[in-house]
Amino acid sequence: MVVIIDDSDQSISLAVGVLRAGGIVAVPTETVYGLAADASEPAAVSKVFTAKGRPFAHPLIVHLGAGASLEDWAAHVPDDAFRLAAAFWPGPLSMVLPRHPSVSTVVTGGRDTVALRMPAHPVALRLLAAFGGGLAAPSANRFGNVSPTTAADVRADLGDEVELIIDGGPCEIGVESTIVELVGGRAGRQAMVTILRAGAVGPEALAGVLGHAVGTTARGPARAPGMLASHYAPRTPLELWPENTEDGAARRVADLVSSGARVGALCLGRIEVPGAAVAWDAGGDAAVFARSLYQWLRRADAENLDILVVVLPPPEGISLAVRDRLRRAATR
Ligand code: TXA
Ligand code: MG
Repeated sequence: MVVIIDDSDQSISLAVGVLRAGGIVAVPTETVYGLAADASEPAAVSKVFTAKGRPFAHPLIVHLGAGASLEDWAAHVPDDAFRLAAAFWPGPLSMVLPRHPSVSTVVTGGRDTVALRMPAHPVALRLLAAFGGGLAAPSANRFGNVSPTTAADVRADLGDEVELIIDGGPCEIGVESTIVELVGGRAGRQAMVTILRAGAVGPEALAGVLGHAVGTTARGPARAPGMLASHYAPRTPLELWPENTEDGAARRVADLVSSGARVGALCLGRIEVPGAAVAWDAGGDAAVFARSLYQWLRRADAENLDILVVVLPPPEGISLAVRDRLRRAATR
């Protein structure tokens, strides 16, 4: 039986006890809820993979608290990594660095690199401070499902697998962290920085801090195992329309409705769709779109829609991450 606890000091102590005993706890972060285990205990970390039904070759992100030192987790820390940490931590940026020999390969899916991030959520930071070590935590959903942005989402997906969920309210950002890989950067040289997964920290913000350009990679499984083309997937089929095609998408919805389908519509701004079962918009606010995205995808399933017609937001800022997740969610 799963127990949802509040964010009191007593709850944090309870969660620390479960983690120290090798158990797993669902924890709020500013991006999505994570399923956390003691990163230094391979047996505990294994439970995370089992609970999610996640292949063991898909590495986890290690979450670090305010006092943590990158050098305890990475065998080599380029200056660029210190710069990015200073600028964006705590925050929605994960950095892939060479694995320190003390980091278990169970955490890293057998790889020689490790992903590190300091979450910007007061509850996660208090838990990390009280725990005193690193917490390996993927998103707290069953493998392939939509990531959870509320405690209730975690319970609905993993309620049979997890004992404890800390309720820290709905997640502020709503899509997973930006993942960057840093290669090289020895002897004061700049590292090669590549975005493996889009998130709230975009390429311009990264380049602004680094003073040099960052690359983006094709979503290859070799570079970021677990970054499958089909992922973050609701049951409802999605039909994606390019940005600024609200009129065409509305006509498409009307056609689908007249053919008897149960249709939903989703877009950044306004769209008039008479006859649609549901129509969601973000009021023109890209941050609201990101924050609400996974809630809408869950509701699309709950509404038993035959199809959800989505107009993509323009490719800038956090909408780059929204577009990425929608493309994956639309891939069967
Ligand atoms: O916002 C987030 O990042 C959330 C919260 C809980 O922090 N976590 C999250 O974890 O999204 P997860 O496991 O669902 O996605 C992490 C992804 C993996 O799919 C994998 O592609 C990538 O991080 N990753 C982790 N370690 C890596 C490594 N050593 N090399 C390349 N990619 C790595
Ligand atoms: Mg995930």
